[in-house]
Amino acid sequence: MKKILNELKQLHVAGFDAGKIFSGKKSNRMVSGFNSPSSFTPEVNPEYLFHDSSRDAVVWFMNSSDPLYVFGPAGSGKTSLIKQLAAKLNYPVFDITGHGRLEFPDIVGHLTVEDSNMSFQYGPLALAMKFGGLFLLNEIDLLDPAAAAGLNGILDGAPLCISENGGEVIKPHPLFRFAATANTNGGTDETGLYQGTLRQNLAFMDRFWLCEIGYPSPKAERELLHRKAPGLPKDVRTKMVEYANEVRKLFMGHADGSFRDTIEVTFSTRTLIRWADLTVRFQPLARQGIQPVNYALDRALGYRATPETRTVLHELAQRIFPQETKE
Ligand SMILES: Nc1ncnc2c1ncn2[C@@H]1O[C@H](COP(=O)(O)OP(=O)(O)OP(=O)(O)O)[C@@H](O)[C@H]1O
Ligand SMILES: [Mg+2]
Repeated sequence: MKKILNELKQLHVAGFDAGKIFSGKKSNRMVSGFNSPSSFTPEVNPEYLFHDSSRDAVVWFMNSSDPLYVFGPAGSGKTSLIKQLAAKLNYPVFDITGHGRLEFPDIVGHLTVEDSNMSFQYGPLALAMKFGGLFLLNEIDLLDPAAAAGLNGILDGAPLCISENGGEVIKPHPLFRFAATANTNGGTDETGLYQGTLRQNLAFMDRFWLCEIGYPSPKAERELLHRKAPGLPKDVRTKMVEYANEVRKLFMGHADGSFRDTIEVTFSTRTLIRWADLTVRFQPLARQGIQPVNYALDRALGYRATPETRTVLHELAQRIFPQETKE
């Protein structure tokens, strides 16, 4: 713990040109970050694609007075977006994933024995508040709403009082940021897909700036596959994105609100990347007469579906990839 604390103490607030950081073009608008990365700063992923949905989060990093609540479908890129933006500004990120039994000591810290002495081990929230940095609470809608509402004071900017550490009072560092991600908007999960999520307390939700992250546009997803699976022919990547969007349409139901012929699985960006990646890996199977596109599709998504849906998925693949799925 001492090593960690010493490292974090070395960090200083630094100003950057926002345009240069976020779009590569000088803008003369400043954004604050840290002078250097630390072992808590996420690695910059050179393949990461900042698309239109990133806009709100960028603005938040520039003027973040309120905590941020990012919601959207599974695997759409919520956590990675926040971490990649944080990486650009050298923010240390202290993250934790919510669950029904998460309690205050898990995020604030607890007493422990170190070198035969009792000492206080700071948790992720305490570290972010004390030294500056981003506290990232993933899957916040899995928290028990009563426990979550215990964070209201912190969300309002109040200091953190740690009675177990001799009554230490931690005033929030000027670069303390609080961001949460979730699959629901903190209200009811109308889809019934996100089992375990809980409707959050209204006053708790009222404290957040909300940001919705949907799936990237087809253009952005084509570019993403180009970066992640350059070995795949361009037309296959293009068809994969088209296919993913067709599956999303089948999943969403019809404009008239009916659910006839709909399916129960959908394509996240995560699944799309996995499909492209597996297709490359299974390429050698083509020599044995196995179609890599279809084979990888089952392993990326199809096996999660009912047998009826798998038939629908294979028929759709035959329509969109007539060459690659020819028996
Ligand atoms: N714009 C992007 N550029 C590069 N990779 C991306 C992008 N969006 C998503 N990914 C990749 O897709 C995967 C899923 O992203 P991430 O974990 O951020 O999704 P999420 O929305 O937080 O998912 P969940 O709802 O399950 O928490 C990751 O491997 C991530 O790197
Ligand atoms: Mg996530």
